[in-house]
Amino acid sequence: MMPATEPTQVPQAEPGEAYALELRGLSRTFTLGSGFLRQGRTLQAVSEVSLRVPRGQVMGLVGESGCGKSTLAKMLLGLTPPSAGEVLIDGRPIVGANQKALARHVQPIFQDPYSSLNPRQRIAQIVGLPLRIHGIGSPGEQAARVAEMLDLVGLPGRAARQYPGQLSGGQRQRVAIARALIMRPALVICDEPTSALDVSVQAQILNLLLDLKEAFGLTYLFISHDLAVVEHLADRLAVMYLGRIVEEGSREQIFNAPRHPYTRALLASALTPEPGLGVPDIGLGSAQPDPSAPPSGCAFHPRCPVAESRCARQRPLLNDADGNGGSRIACHLA
Ligand SMILES: Nc1ncnc2c1ncn2[C@@H]1O[C@H](COP(=O)(O)OP(=O)(O)OP(=O)(O)O)[C@@H](O)[C@H]1O
Ligand code: SF4
Ligand SMILES: [Mg+2]
Repeated sequence: MMPATEPTQVPQAEPGEAYALELRGLSRTFTLGSGFLRQGRTLQAVSEVSLRVPRGQVMGLVGESGCGKSTLAKMLLGLTPPSAGEVLIDGRPIVGANQKALARHVQPIFQDPYSSLNPRQRIAQIVGLPLRIHGIGSPGEQAARVAEMLDLVGLPGRAARQYPGQLSGGQRQRVAIARALIMRPALVICDEPTSALDVSVQAQILNLLLDLKEAFGLTYLFISHDLAVVEHLADRLAVMYLGRIVEEGSREQIFNAPRHPYTRALLASALTPEPGLGVPDIGLGSAQPDPSAPPSGCAFHPRCPVAESRCARQRPLLNDADGNGGSRIACHLA
């Protein structure tokens, strides 16, 4: 599939800036305000996350519910300020960047398209809104670009005149994808984009996202609690546990030779008879700990089948496993 028009030019990065997205020590703390017992307590949703995503690649970000994936996504989109650390998109820090300018380079696709689509607007208006906000093209050019985009995401021409309520869940997600891509962003943050869809529709949307990535040369950060979803999509994977990355590596390494005990548990749960149904039961007895009172040392130690006594005392650093930057792991036994 090829777009009929050239993608909008994005500013060229300086030589050597190979990354579409770079996170440096990114953290986000929430203060829990309400309730007598919570008063003044803090919750570290994201802790010192450093990650690099080369242009044109898909980075999968996986972890259980509540591990901080969406909080991370919101920081990358400029929707939530970081408590510490830096986000660079195409080598440029986004802190202090104008929200409108940022929207030209990075766009989200969220889990529930319905809540973000105005039910009283026709699909053509919804998809064309970013062009109007940014004053791109004449009304005729905007309409042509909307029609082209709807065609690219596999919607019939008549959808342009319909309302969100007249479409199926899969079609609504296609509308959300069309709206996200109409500005030809370089980076797309996909936060569980298929979790709310029927299983039969999920594969269609994942294939569409892959086709569009090739057609537009996009870079994706693809968030999912389900390893099965990212298996066919991601070039690399980062595994998060209680706000921290515990392992990062190529898809092949993570799926064929996972090193972190948590990654192994996640993989085992993805191989159970009904993968992708809700939060994985990782079969380790205890549930995920409260993020506002994380365990000492390695936060995974209460659930880790191979924990040693030092694991409760010392937090393992995220180290370069092979000395070539290809794989990182945070475990004393690695
Ligand atoms: N605005 C907020 N105020 C306080 N706590 C918050 C806020 N937003 C998120 N949290 C907490 O931060 C932690 C991470 O939440 P987040 O939504 O980022 O997780 P997630 O990995 O996206 O989960 P899910 O898979 O369920 O979407 C959770 O413990 C959540 O309760
Ligand atoms: S550091 Fe210890 S508790 Fe943490 S994953 Fe490794 S072995 Fe398990
Ligand atoms: Mg989330």
